[in-house]
Amino acid sequence: MFDKRHLPLQTPAGQLVSSGKAILLGEHFVVYGASALAVAVPNGVTLSWRPADAHSLWIDNWDLQVRPDASGTELERAFQALLDGAPWATQPAEMHATIGIPSGAGLGSSAALGVAVLRALEHANGHPLTHEARFALLFAWEGVFHGQPSGFDHAASLHQGFTRFRRFETPPLQALPPASNLYAIVGHVEPGASTKTMVDGVRSWREAYPVRFQDLLNSADARVDVFLHALEQGALVNAGRLLDDNHAALQEIGVSTPALDRAVQRARDAGAYGAKLIGAGGGGCILALTDAIHIDALHHALQAVSIRTLRIEPETPRTSSSLPPTLP
Ligand code: PMV
Repeated sequence: MFDKRHLPLQTPAGQLVSSGKAILLGEHFVVYGASALAVAVPNGVTLSWRPADAHSLWIDNWDLQVRPDASGTELERAFQALLDGAPWATQPAEMHATIGIPSGAGLGSSAALGVAVLRALEHANGHPLTHEARFALLFAWEGVFHGQPSGFDHAASLHQGFTRFRRFETPPLQALPPASNLYAIVGHVEPGASTKTMVDGVRSWREAYPVRFQDLLNSADARVDVFLHALEQGALVNAGRLLDDNHAALQEIGVSTPALDRAVQRARDAGAYGAKLIGAGGGGCILALTDAIHIDALHHALQAVSIRTLRIEPETPRTSSSLPPTLP
């Protein structure tokens, strides 16, 4: 029988939006301490909530209800893990989320959902957390999907802008000023693989080729500053080459696929300054760097090889919460 609670909330107490992310540089190497760079992908998750008798999370556009359960599905275990770290969340909330980005495709949908759920719990309980506390708590949620996440995904989603991340630095996240030259197309090329499986595969590769891995890691680490400088100067040919180098490194450690490689080549043939797979790989998305003049043509070219495309442009509105600005 159709359950009326499945409808979007008619009278939410609040609504908020959290962003996904596209990794410009450094995925996988970030796990071992290299610098990495991400840009927010707006409207990752829209979530409304209201006080209730028990915690529940409805993913309206997946036709899915999730309750906290330590022995349930991944989402149920993540929900429980988050609540275990939030003993202050004594006021349960009914939450309804819509996921606006492809999931399991390297765009950080799980982190965006975790951020939205946590912030709704904060609001429902009148318990604002600092950014640092949110970052720490979300490892429990992300750990269910990723195994040993670097924290990059949820750091980028929490910041909602242009982000540099270095895992073993304090603080690991550096919020960067918006990049006025950053025009890119993200193409969702094929279904992605499990991040945990891909990270485990890279760990094996690193064990088999430790010296080569360290070389690649050092190059990945150095690439971020050079890229930021090139972007700031509008030296897009140089910036694009760094994306290409990043893709080659990801190919070498075994996380690309023929379809991702073909899409990357298609982007370059269509005039992109550079292109790479983004996220854990094994499928998912690519990102191709362009400029204001060529973005429409590149977009068109990538639509032909993508399930879905997203545009990243400097004027893309920053995601924001529609809740009162009392929480940091
Ligand atoms: O979840 P994805 O596909 O965006 O990948 C996350 C980035 C990795 O570097 C592969 C893993 C991590 O924890 O940083």
